[in-house]
Amino acid sequence: MELSVDKEKCIGCGLCVSICDKCFQMDGNQAKAIGKECDNCDLKQAVESCPANAIKIEK
Ligand code: F3S
Repeated sequence: MELSVDKEKCIGCGLCVSICDKCFQMDGNQAKAIGKECDNCDLKQAVESCPANAIKIEK
C-alpha cells in the first residue's frame, strides 16, 4: 500500500502525525506521508480522522 497526503487539501492539523509518527511527519505546515504502511498504527483511523480528507491509501 502507498500512502499519500494531498498537499492541496491538508490544513496541517497534525492529527495524522499524532496517530502515527512512523507513517506521517510534519513538513513545514503540512503533513507528508513517509513510505508505506507500518505495522503498529490504524491507518483507517488516520484516514477517517483527517478533517480535510487529505489522506489517501492506494493499493
Ligand atoms: Fe493534514 Fe489531515 Fe494530517 S489535515 S496534517 S493530512 S490529519
